Amino acid sequence: MASKHILVIPGDGIGQEVTEVSKQVVEAIGQKFGHAFSFDYALIGHAAIEATGQPLPEETIEKSKASDAILFGAVGHPKYDNDPSAKVRPEQGLLGIRKALGLYANLRPIKLFDELLEASSIKAEILRGADILFFRELTGDIYFGEKGRQDEGATAYDIAKYSKYEVERIARKAFEAARTRNGKLCSVDKANVLETSRLWREVVQEIAKEYPDVTVEHQFVDSAAMLLIKDPRRFDVVLTANLFGDILTDEASQIAGSMGMLASASIGDTVGLYEPIHGSAHDITGKGVANPLASVLSAALMLDISFGMKEESEAIIAAVDGVLKDGFRTGDIADAQTDRAKILGTEAMGAELLKRI
Ligand code: NAD
Ligand code: IPM
Ligand code: MN
Repeated sequence: MASKHILVIPGDGIGQEVTEVSKQVVEAIGQKFGHAFSFDYALIGHAAIEATGQPLPEETIEKSKASDAILFGAVGHPKYDNDPSAKVRPEQGLLGIRKALGLYANLRPIKLFDELLEASSIKAEILRGADILFFRELTGDIYFGEKGRQDEGATAYDIAKYSKYEVERIARKAFEAARTRNGKLCSVDKANVLETSRLWREVVQEIAKEYPDVTVEHQFVDSAAMLLIKDPRRFDVVLTANLFGDILTDEASQIAGSMGMLASASIGDTVGLYEPIHGSAHDITGKGVANPLASVLSAALMLDISFGMKEESEAIIAAVDGVLKDGFRTGDIADAQTDRAKILGTEAMGAELLKRI
């Protein structure tokens, strides 16, 4: 029996809806396996701006540091998306917490459940067996370099910057993971154009010498984007920078059928934060139709990575597999063959999961 304190940061939009389900799933796991999980809540994003004026209140950082792990939902609000001049923005909350907690490695597993072969817009024979683990660098790159305006606002700039140690630490994590998988690593960059990418490639080549058992290839990001759809099975571990990783993993979500299926783990040297890769999804917010499985699978990553609870984590994955095998779907993963009576909303999907834990 273990005792763990989990901070839930639902954030905005469907973040609120999906974290409620994953919290219930974790509670059920606690009961089943006899663990004492305690929960607290904190604000971020638009919800935090409304309450405090800040996207990332100090209290959220303090509570995060005092927790054993964080279950994060999403940030974002249409108000800011359509107002480029807004100085305070929900997304600053997420970027800020990643930086404040030193969460430099974002693991995004692209795992296709067999039952969803037909849910993807990619042909089943191309997809079958695809299993990729992305390592997206999360606290550097163009996201965190100096940004600003010149010429009275008529010119804008964002500086992309990487230091050797930033590349080394994420590369090591990716190589270690490749060792436990199929021993293949693809590093994705734009070294034919960008200086940051040339440093990236130099460092990855250097680290590769420490891992002679791992087969390394380098791909330019434009070609990698094409190969992901052409032949996803050629990839095992993919290592890439912050911006490329953001874009490629939304693309790769189609290998798993939907954005609503993609979980992630943001880790560094201290507390881990577990977040679906999707956003606050304004178009479906409040309708009760969001797929909670990306958040639920993020909770499974939390149990495994932060708490070392492999069996408990697998119990969640088995429950997800169970609902899918029994034909239940949220709208985003339904296909022409889906029994209309088995298309569920967020809460009903949660209830089906709980029955199987
Ligand atoms: P999004 O990921 O919110 O949505 C993209 C599309 O996927 C939408 O059609 C949405 O309905 C669908 N979708 C996403 N998650 C789903 C789920 N769980 N179930 C069913 N369908 C799902 O991206 P967007 O529309 O580009 O951005 C909306 C807002 O979210 C923006 O303000 C953006 O800044 C923010 N955002 C936040 C995060 C995050 O918090 N991690 C990630 C991406 C975008
Ligand atoms: C993600 C999101 C974030 C990112 C935004 C909301 C800051 O798109 O988690 O993928 O770009 O990292
Ligand atoms: Mn993204």
